[in-house]
Amino acid sequence: MEKGNKEYKPHCLILPFPLQGHINPMLQFSKRLAHKGIRTTMVTTKYLFKTIQESLGSIPVETISDGYDNGGLAEAGSAVAYVEKFLKIGPKTLTDLIERLKNSSDSAVDCIIYDPFIPWGLDVAKKFGLVGAMFFTQSCAVDQIYYYVYKGEIKLPITDNEIRVPGLPVLESSDMPSFIYVYGSYPTGLEVLLNQFQNVEKADWVLVNTFHKLEQEVIDWMAKFWPVKAIGPTIPSMYLDKMLLNDKEYGFSILKPDTDACKEWLHERQTRSVIYVSFGSLAQLQVEQMEELAKGLRMSNKCFLWVVRASEESKLPENFANETSKKGLIVSWCPQLEVLAHDSVGCFITHCGWNSTLEAMSLGIPIVAMPRWSDQCTNAKFVSDIWKMGIRTRADEKGIVRDTEIVRCVELVTDGDERKEIRMNAIKWKEMAREAVDKGGSSDRNIEEFVSALVNPLSEVQQSQHCTSVC
Ligand code: UDX
Repeated sequence: MEKGNKEYKPHCLILPFPLQGHINPMLQFSKRLAHKGIRTTMVTTKYLFKTIQESLGSIPVETISDGYDNGGLAEAGSAVAYVEKFLKIGPKTLTDLIERLKNSSDSAVDCIIYDPFIPWGLDVAKKFGLVGAMFFTQSCAVDQIYYYVYKGEIKLPITDNEIRVPGLPVLESSDMPSFIYVYGSYPTGLEVLLNQFQNVEKADWVLVNTFHKLEQEVIDWMAKFWPVKAIGPTIPSMYLDKMLLNDKEYGFSILKPDTDACKEWLHERQTRSVIYVSFGSLAQLQVEQMEELAKGLRMSNKCFLWVVRASEESKLPENFANETSKKGLIVSWCPQLEVLAHDSVGCFITHCGWNSTLEAMSLGIPIVAMPRWSDQCTNAKFVSDIWKMGIRTRADEKGIVRDTEIVRCVELVTDGDERKEIRMNAIKWKEMAREAVDKGGSSDRNIEEFVSALVNPLSEVQQSQHCTSVC
């Protein structure tokens, strides 16, 4: 079907950084686009494609190379080596892919939706004259903080304890992403996050996985400068608006979930009796922290479902799983959405990765926030003090959250006086998340606008008129 024909369906390539927490939201967004008549193709690395545990359902996949086709990040040995080689190899293999699709009968690409962790995605899009849409997988607040550091308006290392950034409440230094407030703790991570903005002015769209009511002020502030559109939360539709029938999971799991064991075990527990514990796909806890958490869970005397990835398992106290088997289940990966949606789950001890935060919110589950690093500290601040749907644990001077603190926080969200207000807020956010993506909601309208611009691109004359009036 030729461009310009009424039936023509624009084709978007979706290019996430190859991490679970980045693939999930971008894949989910591509399903929304497909539902609205856009052709979408996920682009992942050759190595990751070999390792995935599930099919992507209806979304086609193409691969590019990060230079480490046999082992990905582990083969690279360090984040620095990985990012450097990906920058060298990635643009060339993406270019080859676009050329190949251009020459096939009806797969020519119209737009690249790229993760700003790989800002060269936009350079490649522009080289081919394609629409380039940036997709932030972290919160708008976090993006804004990094942008202010990038511009040099927040100077590092931070010396003030009160940090003022337009569109955000006054923040303390410990509310900043860890790469900023523990300056020097992860230079490669900080560089990747700041480089997100190196070519932002050229992006045709700046899509953010958030929703308007959640981050109104900062979204409105950013939208004064860039074509920002909040399009989230990107949670499988059956947990929110149910517009995409049967859409119950993301469909790209790097690790294999222990689904049956989790479901069977949860079915036998009472309503809201279970503490669900998970720290996402990357966090590594210190041995001492694992011990304190294990002691805290035991002392709380509640049922718990704890995800301990295989790479973390050796840090568990000896015999802990056996000794607590009457109350607890430990798995190496779980179907997190199904778990959070289960009646028996009463609270979520989480690292506050942005996906886990939005998932808890979309399912109305109160949070005990135990941020580890990166954006999680900022997310935890908002969960506890702004959205008031959880509590943030306090670490001691060694950075360890002690067993008694874990018990205090769990009790507070499940039995304490505050629990009603926290639960009420969690339910309120759940409703607002659903409204945002439901037909006519703020995120749905933004997605419609994006789709309509792809379907009816402005002519070059219109584009220059549009630019003189907006830019
Ligand atoms: C990373 C960063 O750490 C996070 O701070 C950033 O916001 C996104 O990228 P990650 O640490 O993996 O992500 O956390 P998170 O954002 O919460 O994403 C984890 C994803 O894995 C979620 O979608 C969650 O549903 C899924 N998950 C987690 C499972 O499916 N099963 C599990 O057992 C645990």
